[in-house]
Amino acid sequence: MAILITGGCGYIGSHTCIEMLQAGYDIVVIDNYYNSKPEALRRVKELSGKEFPFYECDIRDAEGLKKIFAAHKIEAVIHFAGLKAVGESVRIPLTYYDNNVGGTVTLCQVMSEMGCKRMVFSSSATVYGNANTSPLTEDMPTGAVTNAYGRTKFMIEGILHDLCNSDPEWSAVILRYFNPIGAHISGRIGEDPNGIPNNLMPYVSQVAIGKLSQLSVFGDDYDTPDGTGVRDYIHVVDLAKGHVKAVDYALAHTGDEAINLGTGNGCSVLQLVNAFKAANGVDVPYVVAPRRPGDIGTCFSDPSKAARLLGWKAEKTVEDMCRDSWRWQSQNPKGYDE
Ligand code: NAD
Ligand code: UD1
Repeated sequence: MAILITGGCGYIGSHTCIEMLQAGYDIVVIDNYYNSKPEALRRVKELSGKEFPFYECDIRDAEGLKKIFAAHKIEAVIHFAGLKAVGESVRIPLTYYDNNVGGTVTLCQVMSEMGCKRMVFSSSATVYGNANTSPLTEDMPTGAVTNAYGRTKFMIEGILHDLCNSDPEWSAVILRYFNPIGAHISGRIGEDPNGIPNNLMPYVSQVAIGKLSQLSVFGDDYDTPDGTGVRDYIHVVDLAKGHVKAVDYALAHTGDEAINLGTGNGCSVLQLVNAFKAANGVDVPYVVAPRRPGDIGTCFSDPSKAARLLGWKAEKTVEDMCRDSWRWQSQNPKGYDE
């Protein structure tokens, strides 16, 4: 029996492949390479010392998916495949609804038809929107999202809920990630964003290496200890380990369950910048800029449900995250393009 990993070539997927293999699972990976490169999986194989089947396949391609399910005994799916650029989602919302929502519906239809009814899904803390006060718990209202990307996650959560209600054999573990950063300790795999990064950590790394001249800190007048935005940064390897536990859970339970994956600790932009400088002995010049539209001041998790249900807890520190992000960036200044 194997676990199918959609989007397994991407940032979180590639780290999860390694943790799944290390935990003794057989995996089958699919990706359409929209936002990733074959080199990532080559390095996953190198690091794990294991081979596994890969298919270049789009999750909207029902016939392609059916062939893969027919060729392998798939007992559950970890579903990462999706588009994730917030700004782009506002410009081309239909592409996001087609890929993320339409793709997930097609995948679930094929899964049902092929008798595989267990999924671990990549949702996001973005579903909590700006209406709740941190620490965020899973029972808080969701849906007050500010962009199409966030709405695709909210919609998919609802679809999986309805699906589990309609069929008692279905199991869906909906993981709400907080802010994943860091990289594998080897420095061989990491986040490889296209163009100028939108997210804080890849931006900081590219300033530190001299690709970008300075960081703009988006607002220093939030109601936070130093006025800059507070987030719950989580090491991608901790996040990947959370998926192993979530698969174990999905195999043992039915119904749908939303679970936060975060550390429970808030860290401000300036705290992250200072931690990065201290951990790596590099400079990160910055200027204070206006707030970024759509941003909120503070967002961090209550991770106790993950501890209770999955037996999982994040272990790595902000220092680990900064050190590992920098190792990946400095050893691979062009990402996977060597
Ligand atoms: P990523 O872009 O690195 O990985 C996603 C992968 O899915 C890519 O390899 C891409 O090529 C593939 N893909 C996209 N559309 C596809 C399709 N139609 N068919 C097949 N493959 C397709 O992103 P990531 O950071 O690894 O995120 C993984 C998942 O986690 C996404 O669903 C994302 O929305 C979600 N998420 C990410 C974050 C984050 O900060 N990185 C936070 C919350 C949630
Ligand atoms: C963003 C997305 C969220 C998505 C997540 C991971 C928005 C509104 N939210 O979350 O939907 O799930 O990325 O992909 O886009 N910052 C700077 N300068 C920068 C970049 C960021 O000061 O150049 C600040 C931000 O204002 C924020 C913090 O750093 O306070 C983290 O930003 P970012 O990494 O983009 O993540 P989120 O905004 O939390």
